[in-house]
Amino acid sequence: MKIRTLALAACAAAAMTAIALPAAAQGSGKIKVGLMLPYTGTFAALGTAIENGFRLYITEQGGKLGGREIEFVKVDDESNPAKATDNVNKLVKRDNVDVLVGTVHSGVAMAMAKVAKDTGTLLIVPNAGADAVTGAMCAPNIFRSSFTNWQPGYAMGEVMAKKGHKNAVTITWKYAAGDESVGGFKEAFQKAGGKVVKELSLPFPNVEFQALLTEIAALKPDAVYTFFAGGGAVKFVKDYAAAGLKKSIPLYGAGFLTDGTLEAQGADAEGLLTTLHYGDSLGTPRDNAFRLAYAKTYKLQPDVYAVQGYDAAQMLAAGLSAAKGDVTKKAEFTDGIRKARIDSPRGAFMLSKSHNPVQDIYLRQVGAKENKVIGVASKALADPARGCRM
Ligand code: BEZ
Repeated sequence: MKIRTLALAACAAAAMTAIALPAAAQGSGKIKVGLMLPYTGTFAALGTAIENGFRLYITEQGGKLGGREIEFVKVDDESNPAKATDNVNKLVKRDNVDVLVGTVHSGVAMAMAKVAKDTGTLLIVPNAGADAVTGAMCAPNIFRSSFTNWQPGYAMGEVMAKKGHKNAVTITWKYAAGDESVGGFKEAFQKAGGKVVKELSLPFPNVEFQALLTEIAALKPDAVYTFFAGGGAVKFVKDYAAAGLKKSIPLYGAGFLTDGTLEAQGADAEGLLTTLHYGDSLGTPRDNAFRLAYAKTYKLQPDVYAVQGYDAAQMLAAGLSAAKGDVTKKAEFTDGIRKARIDSPRGAFMLSKSHNPVQDIYLRQVGAKENKVIGVASKALADPARGCRM
């Protein structure tokens, strides 16, 4: 009798294994996260900081989010829009990831958003500011933990007008992030009576700035507004100073100009004013704890990219805990993120209806190799989400 019972139990177990559902459908097993970030090129350091921040939050939660272990599949997107659709399709169709997390470059992020929208795959954008991602392309399954390109640009337009600058030249890379950052700046600066006398640009990721700097010197504007980031930002700030312009024409920018770059920029960045949703001297208990944990884990100081990666993991956790660990419960998952108050090192925030952070944009000034927060340029700034129908 006893032997027969055991045999029946063994048969039942074998049958259960045979009809086992995929891990995601069961709400057990590992969650597969497709990390699509740049690990080479001018944005390589930004990709690494995002991954570091993402992993730090998971470690702090004991290695699990919503009761599930996390497994990674990684792709180096090289900040190359031409390879973006193939790269994201590999993650979605070949690797069957449960969630996509990426990326840094706006052009690459728009390709990710298109695939996410077409396939219904969950996407959390941990940097790229492409306005369309939470504008015309917005969708219930697409979220952002960072900013729109419009947000820091708009805040700086107001700051520069208040400083009394009447005209400005803009200079940036010619792609969505540069165009939209300048667009946000122009909107606020012109509304306040300022005039943009010339919009200069060069293709991404070129760093041959000399001819454009000569043009700025000839134009003699009251001030310059710029969007550059990563390795390109380091070179631009150094070249601007080397051309002798720093002393004569004040340089302002979206905060990416001096974030994660100060060691390399050295004295050439001292005193620069920028606007961003994070800074090095917030001094809140939440930010202090984050900075300490990050420095201990990675032997590096965190920057805005690390914060955005950390908060992307917090958003994933909010979705997973609302869906009780089951990513196939998409309505519960997305509702969990939409209603979450993200306890970010930058200051707590919630998402707008179009799934972009509504957040304070700080005015920062570089001093002693830190982006010191000297004020709030724009309180609880929400992107206008133009074209979003949701
Ligand atoms: C972007 O392409 O959206 C971007 C890249 C680096 C820093 C900020 C924005």
